[in-house]
Amino acid sequence: MMVVMMIIIDGLGVVVLIIDSFCHHRRSEIRLLPGGCRTLAVGEGDFAFSEGLSASRSCTGSAPELVVTCLEPEEDIRSQYADADQRLARLRGDGAKVICGVDATELLKGPLVDEEPFERIVFNFPLLPTKVHKPRASSADVQIANRAMLVEFLRGAATFLRKDGLLLIANKDCYPYSWWRLESLPEWAGGQLAFMGAVPWQYTEYPSLYGGPCNVNRDASVKPTDATIFLYAHRDSENFRLALEAASSWRYCCDPGQSKQGPFSFRCDMCHVSTRTAGDLHAHEAGKIHKKRAHLERLWQ
Ligand SMILES: C[S@@+](CC[C@H](N)C(=O)[O-])C[C@H]1O[C@@H](n2cnc3c(N)ncnc32)[C@H](O)[C@@H]1O
Repeated sequence: MMVVMMIIIDGLGVVVLIIDSFCHHRRSEIRLLPGGCRTLAVGEGDFAFSEGLSASRSCTGSAPELVVTCLEPEEDIRSQYADADQRLARLRGDGAKVICGVDATELLKGPLVDEEPFERIVFNFPLLPTKVHKPRASSADVQIANRAMLVEFLRGAATFLRKDGLLLIANKDCYPYSWWRLESLPEWAGGQLAFMGAVPWQYTEYPSLYGGPCNVNRDASVKPTDATIFLYAHRDSENFRLALEAASSWRYCCDPGQSKQGPFSFRCDMCHVSTRTAGDLHAHEAGKIHKKRAHLERLWQ
């Protein structure tokens, strides 16, 4: 459980709320991907999300509103996922542009180079397939490789994101995915984009679009446990200025209990842990998890 920043985007602008995810009151859905927004999806795998998004919109106009892509060649997707044939046909029939063989780390060199900028760019549950890692890769190696992939994605995506656009990464906010530190990606990706906040999956329209990610290695679905949508915008975006200002002074916190007990003057930014005393911070730093994370960060440097 964690405290999250919830950003509500509506016709009136942007309202930023800090909410405590212990609250289980029913909230109205936050629409991150409204119809009419020119949207790019990368790393689509079985294209279930693309299909859900396309069905939620009615395509009008001549330019494709949806450009949906995957890393693999089209024949691999068709042979790996049983529903892919029908899905790709439906998407194309509905006016979406489907492009296979798009590497999210090489957007500037790939088949998207001539595309007009997008209002939304989405990468849901990014994950490198097992086969790209060395046979005896450690969990730290795997985490570093996934983080590096996302850093390169953000670096290239900045060019394709409109100034008033929003970039979304859906990710599981639990170990090992949380150790990729999605909130820090923009710092490593050249700084054109900035982290704006994170919204739990269930408060957005995502559950109505699809059931969760496909398995990266085979035709199977995965539960969207602890799924969270991480949001990024251009650092100088006027559209999201308020949210960006709030995000820059916001400290990502894993334990909402802490925020209620404050003041907590000592902080481990890597683990998102705050303590009341220097002694407590030292005790945290002497712990197994902190040391494991510190090892990962040393490898990353
Ligand atoms: C867990 S699957 C999720 C697929 C899909 N986005 C979903 O939500 O169902 C992870 C996806 O990340 C994709 N991926 C990994 N590295 C990538 C890269 N460099 N460029 C594009 N996609 C990539 C994989 O091909 C795979 O489809």
